[in-house]
Formats: sequence, C-alpha cells, structure tokens
Amino acid sequence: MGLSVLFRRKAENLVGVDIGSSAVKIAQVKQKRRNSYQLEALGLQPLPEGTIVDGLIVSKDPVVDAIQRIFKSQNIQQDQVATAISGQSVIVKRVTLPVESDKEIGESIQWEVEQYIPFDTSQVNLDYHTLGPTSEGNQTEVILVAARRDKIEDQAGVISMAGKTPMVVDVDAFAIQNVYEVNYQPEPETVVALLNIGASVLNVGIVRGTEFVFTRDIGIGGYQYTEALRKELGFSYEEAEKYKRGEVFLDELKETAGTIVQSVSEILALEVQKTFDYFRSTTRYENIQRIYISGGASQTEGLRAYLEETFQLPVEFLDPFKHIGADESALASGLFNERATDFAVAVGLALRAPKDR
Ligand SMILES: Nc1ncnc2c1ncn2[C@@H]1O[C@H](COP(=O)(O)OP(=O)(O)OP(=O)(O)O)[C@@H](O)[C@H]1O
Ligand SMILES: [Mg+2]
Repeated sequence: MGLSVLFRRKAENLVGVDIGSSAVKIAQVKQKRRNSYQLEALGLQPLPEGTIVDGLIVSKDPVVDAIQRIFKSQNIQQDQVATAISGQSVIVKRVTLPVESDKEIGESIQWEVEQYIPFDTSQVNLDYHTLGPTSEGNQTEVILVAARRDKIEDQAGVISMAGKTPMVVDVDAFAIQNVYEVNYQPEPETVVALLNIGASVLNVGIVRGTEFVFTRDIGIGGYQYTEALRKELGFSYEEAEKYKRGEVFLDELKETAGTIVQSVSEILALEVQKTFDYFRSTTRYENIQRIYISGGASQTEGLRAYLEETFQLPVEFLDPFKHIGADESALASGLFNERATDFAVAVGLALRAPKDR
C-alpha cells in the first residue's frame, strides 16, 4: 500500500525501522530489478521492559541507542528512514464519499473524519488514498488514515535523536500488506487475512488481491502470554520470555505452563473472531480464504494450529523473505533464517516502492 501519514516525498531504498514495544527491528533492502530484491542489512535489538507502554515511548534513550547500535553493527550508510505506527493512535478506514471529483474529496473528507474518528480532529494528521469510483458511479472510494499527531512526532522524534532522517511514517498494517504483495504476488480475487502478532498489538488486515479491504488493530499479543506466565507461575519477565522461545525446559511445570499459554491463545483467537465478525458486518462480505501470521508472537507454541482449528482455514507463517535474497552480511546474523517472521513490518517498510501509490 505504501500510504504515508506524514510526508509524501518520493524516496528510494529507505531503511525500514520498526520500533516495536519489545524490540527495534531494522531492515534494508535493495531493489535490483523489477520484482527482484536483495536484503542488505538486518538487525534486532530488544528493548527493556517498560520502554514503550500503551504505545507511547516512555523512555527514549533505549530506543535511540537500539537504532544507533543496529545502524552501526550493520554498517548502514543510508540515513533516510521509513517507520510505522499502529495501535489505538491510528485509524484506517475505507469510506465511500458521495462525491466524484478529486477536489470535492478534499472538502468532504474533513466531514467524514468528524464522523469516524473518535479523537479530537485538531490533534490528528490526515491522509487519504483514492481508490476510484464505486461500481454505481457518482461516489468515490477512499482509504482514510487518521493518526494522532503526538504519536507521529514521538516516533519521528526518536529517529531524529538517533541521527537519522524520518522520511515516512507509515502504518504497520500497510507495511504487512506490502511485504505480502511482494512475496506472494496474489491473484486479484484471493482474499486473505494478515495477522501480525507483536508483543502488545495484533494488526489484522484483510486484502483482496493487492487491494486493501480492511484493517484494525487489537491490543493483544506476546506480552499477554508473558504476563499470564508471570502471574500464574511466578516467572520473571526474562524467564517467561525464555520459556516461550523454548530456551528453557521446565519438566515439572511443562503441563501447567502449556495450559496457561493455551488459555491466552483462546482469548487471542476470540478477539480475532470478533474483528472478523465486525469486518463482515461493516464491509461488503468477503470470504477469507487463508490466514498469514507474522510477528514474534505468531511463533507461540501451538498458536498456528489452534488458529487453523478455530477458523477452519489454512494458516501459514508469512515469510518476508520468500522472494528476497540476502547478501552474506545479512545472512551472517542468523536472523534471516531463524527469526524471519519478526521482520515482516521492517521489511515491508524497506520495500516501499519508489513510486507513490
Ligand atoms: N519463539 C517465540 N515463541 C513465542 N513468543 C515469541 C517467540 N519469539 C518472540 N516471541 C514474542 O513475540 C513478541 C515480540 O514480537 P514482535 O517483535 O513482533 O513485537 P513488537 O513489534 O516488539 O511489538 P508491538 O508491535 O506489539 O509493539 C514478544 O512478546 C515475544 O515474547
Ligand atoms: Mg510490531
């Protein structure tokens, strides 16, 4: 999709900087030819607990430090960056406006925003992308993006503090759609759900072919698993993280821990179900054919199979490198093979086509 919230400047090879609540992930991709990409740099730095709370960067230094470390260790020379926001501070809606010309869109959009956006519109940055006339004509379909200005400034601010230039502030869900399109080159009628399951936010996206249909963010993710393990079993944050990744095995607690993880997966699937229901009730009905999952928490033990069982649909891991090669330095870190799904947003940002869409 590549809709930018902040600037609409054209730029090539921006570095994708994904500031997540658990870690900063960075990717740099070079486009060699049309549909041919090579990964040039890949890096991940965990953030201490409490750095980002409820989507706000509470403590800026660790984030600045993480960005600088990755740029340095990966020897990234380009300093122009694309980043993204998600969660409650951004709203994306596909709306039908009762107008026909581009000029009228600008005028009617403000009114639409007052209808749809639950925050003070003077505090909001607006952007829209015209999809074209509806099949009946005399109406225009538009993707509306409204993001809280303080959130955008917060995000762009840490990037500037790290000595980099924030050129684009995108939306996580669009970055995921981008990475899906490039790697899977979907047929026009294929309807899929893209679930990016992070630490605190789950981005749900519905896409038909390469056309954006719907998106909504849910406030659930890997952090809920960590918290549940902590509360029920007295794990520390670090212990819970290690357990989740299968780095520690606790024979005597294995069963109990498994039950706790499963109960969080059930809550998560229920939230996704509600979002699908909402989508069906507010949008022209689309039959979802397949689900792709990404984000660190998509790797939670048993989650993929549970989603498959719940939704009775094929559920696959979204591979951000399916159609992207890697040079030696990018391969060397081991991240390319071992933690690919964690990088879906960062790669989606780094893939932004130079042409504005
Ligand atoms: N192998 C694994 N098994 C289970 N959970 C995992 C695994 N690897 C990572 N996670 C969890 O994934 C989450 C991190 O994922 P990700 O990097 O996508 O989130 P984020 O971008 O930092 O967060 P957000 O976008 O929600 O703010 C953490 O909660 C982490 O515990
Ligand atoms: Mg994330």
